[in-house]
Amino acid sequence: MVSILELQNLEFIINERKVLKSINFSWRKGETVAFIGGNGAGKSTLLKIIALLSQPSDGKLSLAKGASKNKWKNNLGVVFPDSFLHDSLTAIENLRFYQQIYGKDDKRFIEHILNKVQLVTVKDELVGTYSKGMRQRLSIARALVHQPEYLLLDEPFDGLDLKSKMIIEDILNVHESQGNGYILVSHDVKQAFDLCKRSILLHDGEIIVDEKSSQISLLSFLDKYQSLLERNENEFL
Ligand SMILES: Nc1ncnc2c1ncn2[C@@H]1O[C@H](COP(=O)(O)OP(=O)(O)OP(=O)(O)O)[C@@H](O)[C@H]1O
Ligand SMILES: [Mg+2]
Repeated sequence: MVSILELQNLEFIINERKVLKSINFSWRKGETVAFIGGNGAGKSTLLKIIALLSQPSDGKLSLAKGASKNKWKNNLGVVFPDSFLHDSLTAIENLRFYQQIYGKDDKRFIEHILNKVQLVTVKDELVGTYSKGMRQRLSIARALVHQPEYLLLDEPFDGLDLKSKMIIEDILNVHESQGNGYILVSHDVKQAFDLCKRSILLHDGEIIVDEKSSQISLLSFLDKYQSLLERNENEFL
């Protein structure tokens, strides 16, 4: 399968601390990948580097042949905890604003995506009045508004109730069925493992497990995760 992004011996150092250590990762076209790990493992840092929002301290990031950094950015939809939404605009105004940034103007798609995340009835209300779950669903819509091929999702299910989770899962499944990939960071290991075809366990800035979900059981993945967390706890004793 064609590799769309390749990381070789990638490192990230901040305040003289190595937060990412010798990361090797190849993301193939259409692949759905879960980044799993405890607090501070380096998941968000790695995602920001892949989004080109942050520069690695060392190592190499290469894109597929012919893909410029601009093209890569234009083809990415990102959801990060700081949601990039404007509180003083309505949902529809937010989505129009972001579509324009990507040089697009497709009102029909905005309606379609608002419908998908079930915000149509509140589309003309100021986002500042939205609940956490509504904001999160709008963040997903914002990430999709320019119809990118690849999604980078940092805890997109945070604060969502069961119904909203199912709505987002459905969107991700449709995205995958169209041959498009995503990287998902989640603390819900079972959900991330079940959703993605490949699961990566990060610990203390290193990739500890990188397996196709069909080649490792959820139980043994959870075992490895648990023992890392326990090792961490013992370090604090
Ligand atoms: N801008 C920064 N300044 C200082 N330290 C940072 C910065 N960004 C990341 N770090 C450190 O890098 C480590 C990894 O952080 P990161 O946010 O990537 O973890 P994470 O796996 O996303 O954790 P969480 O599950 O809590 O979101 C942490 O120890 C964090 O303190
Ligand atoms: Mg994080």
